[in-house]
Amino acid sequence: MKFFIDTANVEEIKSAVAMGVLDGVTTNPSLAAKETAPYRELLTEICKIVPGPVSAEVLATEYDGMIKEATDLAGIADNIVVKIPTILEGLRAIKSLSGEGIKTNATLVFSPSQALLVAKAGATFVSPFIGRLDDISQNGMELINQIVTIYSNYLFDTEVLVASVRHPIHVVEAAMIGADVITMPYAVISKLIKHPQTDIGLAKFLEDYKKAGKS
Ligand code: E4P
Repeated sequence: MKFFIDTANVEEIKSAVAMGVLDGVTTNPSLAAKETAPYRELLTEICKIVPGPVSAEVLATEYDGMIKEATDLAGIADNIVVKIPTILEGLRAIKSLSGEGIKTNATLVFSPSQALLVAKAGATFVSPFIGRLDDISQNGMELINQIVTIYSNYLFDTEVLVASVRHPIHVVEAAMIGADVITMPYAVISKLIKHPQTDIGLAKFLEDYKKAGKS
């Protein structure tokens, strides 16, 4: 399973890279809006730090605008993946961009039918937003199950990128289903290693050794 970090913050990205398990980055306009540097500048820097896929989202909501922005974003670096909203115009854009060899990430996916369509259009990644479904009392992880089943039934190449992740249980459940990728905020990635029994056990080992007069 590939691990992406869901942030536009360069310091968080550098810390995640230092953990040695990071495969890529996802950003979105809300995340970019939290940073002071312009989006293009941030993306240029992020692509130099992380060699894997870096998702950059278009702001346009009609076909021509999406294609123009996507072409511009794709020119930033070879590892840019263009995030396109999963609406009718976006579907057309994904189809055209995939024909031109530009990698795409279909974002804001909330149903299996949307996931089926973007795979048929040739999206590189599909991003189901599980946390936002959980927030409205729908089972986000069930959507991952459905998409993984549909894609394996028809051998689609589109990678399932679990998004809107809130906690480590989401990560474990997505891994058990066999999702290809998960994107997480820094807070979630850093929680994955933690267990209180590990800390208690380690402190005890060191204390016992010290008590025995060893140094
Ligand atoms: C994914 O690519 C999105 O940027 C992200 O996961 C959205 O998460 P949120 O629901 O926490 O905003």
